[in-house]
Amino acid sequence: MSGSVRFVMGGRVVEVRGVSPTTTVLDWLRANGRCGSKEGCAEGDCGACTVVLGERTPDGEAGPPVRYRAVNACILFLPMIDGKLLLTVEDLADEDGDLHPVQQALLEANASQCGFCTPGFAMALFALYHAGAAPDDPAIHDALAGNLCRCTGYRPILEAARRMRPHIDVTDRFQRSEAGILALLRSVEREGTLEVSGQGGTFLAPRTVADLAALYARHPDATLVAGATDVGLWVTKGHRSLPVLIHLEPVAELHRVTEAADHLDIGAAATYAALLPSLDRHLPAFAALVRRIGAAQVRNSGTLGGNVANGSPIGDSMPALLALDAELVLNRDGVRRVVPLDGFYTGYRTSVLQAGEFVERIRIPFPDPGERFAVWKVSKRRDQDISAVCAAFRLSLDDAGGVTGFRAGYGGMAAIPARARAAEAAVIGRPWTAQTAAAAAEALSLDFSPITDARASSDFRAAVARNLLLRFHRYTTGEEAYALEDVHG
Ligand SMILES: Cc1cc2nc3c(=O)[nH]c(=O)nc-3n(C[C@H](O)[C@H](O)[C@H](O)COP(=O)(O)OP(=O)(O)OC[C@H]3O[C@@H](n4cnc5c(N)ncnc54)[C@H](O)[C@@H]3O)c2cc1C
Ligand code: FES
Ligand code: FES
Repeated sequence: MSGSVRFVMGGRVVEVRGVSPTTTVLDWLRANGRCGSKEGCAEGDCGACTVVLGERTPDGEAGPPVRYRAVNACILFLPMIDGKLLLTVEDLADEDGDLHPVQQALLEANASQCGFCTPGFAMALFALYHAGAAPDDPAIHDALAGNLCRCTGYRPILEAARRMRPHIDVTDRFQRSEAGILALLRSVEREGTLEVSGQGGTFLAPRTVADLAALYARHPDATLVAGATDVGLWVTKGHRSLPVLIHLEPVAELHRVTEAADHLDIGAAATYAALLPSLDRHLPAFAALVRRIGAAQVRNSGTLGGNVANGSPIGDSMPALLALDAELVLNRDGVRRVVPLDGFYTGYRTSVLQAGEFVERIRIPFPDPGERFAVWKVSKRRDQDISAVCAAFRLSLDDAGGVTGFRAGYGGMAAIPARARAAEAAVIGRPWTAQTAAAAAEALSLDFSPITDARASSDFRAAVARNLLLRFHRYTTGEEAYALEDVHG
């Protein structure tokens, strides 16, 4: 074994050696006497394990000196918190036992019964409390959508979230002790690649794209891990052993998001949460879709690059990326190539990525002025649910109302996220009428033969796919409004 993971917890630097790199933060905490964080599902769904990570805002970047984000400890590998502040429910009350305002609010609102979910709610609320402005109800709902409570009922919990507002900035000792936290965080910052190993596993975390490319070329069988919101489950649910992991999050270049004149250029390790401001500015419909991916804890860790590379047929970003003609910049040992997303997938969860090659960036062209773009995700629940069908459309018309361009990207309809080429062909050069849209909807049966599974039947999927295309037509003609909050479909 070699190397150690260093992070800040309980007001000091903690150094851990020799544990398996796929030990989850939750398992490590509970094995080391911090049992406040609970395990409900071990797959990122229930929020009982919610902890908060704190990081120093990089020099020159806007924002508070320390950024806090809620994450699910059950699918986070311990070495992934190297260099960070780890806060658990044990850290909230101060040394005298005085409750944090978030805990006080939960107490006053009678927002706990059995208490199993309460530490997770407290930590999700803590992150919200430190997010800045006093949250309104939509922000509260958004922050808590990833936390389940079986017995209290959500009304008192929401009431607690509203109550904590007046306390902001008044009694919070985390803000008072910020200088100390920053000094500790500086002391665990790392220059070069982190290398830790233990119990037969190795974890490598390079800092630059060049180092990442060289490392992955040397270890082409390694598993890349960005936010681990997919990979984490391979371990906790799939019981897979992952002998060598290469972590992408510490590579600063992979977080860069550039807003060019005609496209967004997104580093593959940018989290959904980090992407949202740029998407809100340029592609609000896509932003609304991203807000329907998982819940806050998942969006605080999960990345667009991970979604694309994972290649799940029900991955939500790909239908939109296909409709927008997105391209991927791939890197293999420093040699780059650009491939359209349409053509990236070769089969169920397989792609053109070669051994040692990774997704470095994702380029999303903006629709031309006058083009219409919309995306819908149809799932059983609004929050924290997997799509039955996801569909995205982009349309351009000439002055006479004839279709000059049409892209239809679908998820949940085939083994890979895919364009509906027959439906697209059915409308090109035609007048954009209800009849044309209906012909395109019929042509979808040539594009897809969806399967029946636990989420939806084949017939349901086929009907939803048709109806979404017809809905897009009604949206473009003004017969139906497209409210961003209706992206749920
Ligand atoms: C509770 C929960 C809810 C979820 N809800 C949704 C949802 O609503 N919609 C949805 O689409 N997904 C959802 N997911 C799945 C997951 O969050 C997304 O797929 C996410 O985008 C994965 O990103 P990540 O950074 O966590 O990937 P990781 O888990 O770190 O990696 C995923 C895969 O991509 C590979 N990889 C990662 N980055 C790169 C790269 N740059 N180059 C090459 N390979 C790479 C990894 O090796 C791995 O194979 C959910 C997951 C959970 C746990
Ligand atoms: S234990 Fe359920 S989200 Fe972690
Ligand atoms: S208080 Fe019992 S699960 Fe929430």
